[in-house]
Amino acid sequence: MRVLVTGGAGYIGSVAVELLVARGDTVVVLDNLWRGHAAAVLSGVALLNVDLRDAPGTREAVRSARPDAVMHFAAATIVPESVTDPAAYFGINTVGTHNLLVAMRDAAVKRFVFSSTAAVYGEPASIPIREDAATQPINPYGRSKLIVEQMLAWHAAAYGLTYVAFRYFNVAGATVTHGEHHTPETHVIPVALLTLLGRRDRFRVFGTDYPTRDGTAIRDYVHVVDLVEAHLLALDALDRLDDSPGAFNLGSRDGFSVKEIVAGVERVTGRTLPIEYAPRRAGDPPALIADSARARDVLSWTPKHSTLSEMIGSAWEWLQRHPNGYRH
Ligand SMILES: NC(=O)c1ccc[n+]([C@@H]2O[C@H](COP(=O)([O-])OP(=O)(O)OC[C@H]3O[C@@H](n4cnc5c(N)ncnc54)[C@H](O)[C@@H]3O)[C@@H](O)[C@H]2O)c1
Repeated sequence: MRVLVTGGAGYIGSVAVELLVARGDTVVVLDNLWRGHAAAVLSGVALLNVDLRDAPGTREAVRSARPDAVMHFAAATIVPESVTDPAAYFGINTVGTHNLLVAMRDAAVKRFVFSSTAAVYGEPASIPIREDAATQPINPYGRSKLIVEQMLAWHAAAYGLTYVAFRYFNVAGATVTHGEHHTPETHVIPVALLTLLGRRDRFRVFGTDYPTRDGTAIRDYVHVVDLVEAHLLALDALDRLDDSPGAFNLGSRDGFSVKEIVAGVERVTGRTLPIEYAPRRAGDPPALIADSARARDVLSWTPKHSTLSEMIGSAWEWLQRHPNGYRH
């Protein structure tokens, strides 16, 4: 299959390119390198440096790539930034995806796998969260992705698009060759590891008085390889299924508290993390845990690498081999 991977120079997209090529698919990457890295794109894979907000450029990229399917990872992804600059988030995530979908319709590309987010749920009424829970985003990032999910349903009905929207919770870990290099880095595990490398003074734990087992916030983490495996299963399912299967949570259901992450980081690395305890941040719920039964049942998705040891261990190994990330 020929697959166009948007955001293929970013963290998750670069791993998707790696696993697609490994199973024999032909891949073309579309990325404007705003927050991605040309060096993250597997050598031999074509990189189209295109901004999704450029509708004619996007149309030409899809036309020239002639894909059988599109995996759409490209996005702006930082929640607080979306609150201070909502126009950027609706511009990249919503309008950019609209341009992509129009280009796909015009080029008769029918298969689409979309990176959505747990942020579409807002503050959930109950845990674990199922896909049929209310979607009430509390920030522009979540809203910008939910609008796309809603657009997808109408594209499916009107133009025969088949799609899967994956709602990710937290993604972690690395392969031997591809890891997490965000600027700025806001994710818990890489921030902790960068602190061990002396890039940050302290690891800050926000909130120790949550109604959780140890007072710190609990989040659901999936290894990036398990997450991408779900996308490969989805590509195959789109061929099999007549109707679009819609939205799926991708989580592990267990969840780890911030203190458990700290303990895991110290155990895996054998080093002590300098910690500072800080008050809760506004808008951070006590626990966000996914019910991913639907992905397991419909797609036969079985995460194999999402233990704390493997997620932290693979990220630590990658960081030690690439102390400056993809920067030389
Ligand atoms: N990493 C996580 O834990 C997580 C959690 C939930 C959802 N997601 C979603 O997964 C996807 C990938 O996340 P990531 O962590 O790999 O992000 P990332 O920032 O590493 O990668 C995003 C890529 O998109 C590219 N991009 C951004 N705007 C673009 C534009 N206008 N035109 C073309 N390319 C553009 C960037 O240059 C970058 O390479 C995103 O859609 C994100 O919302 C990620």
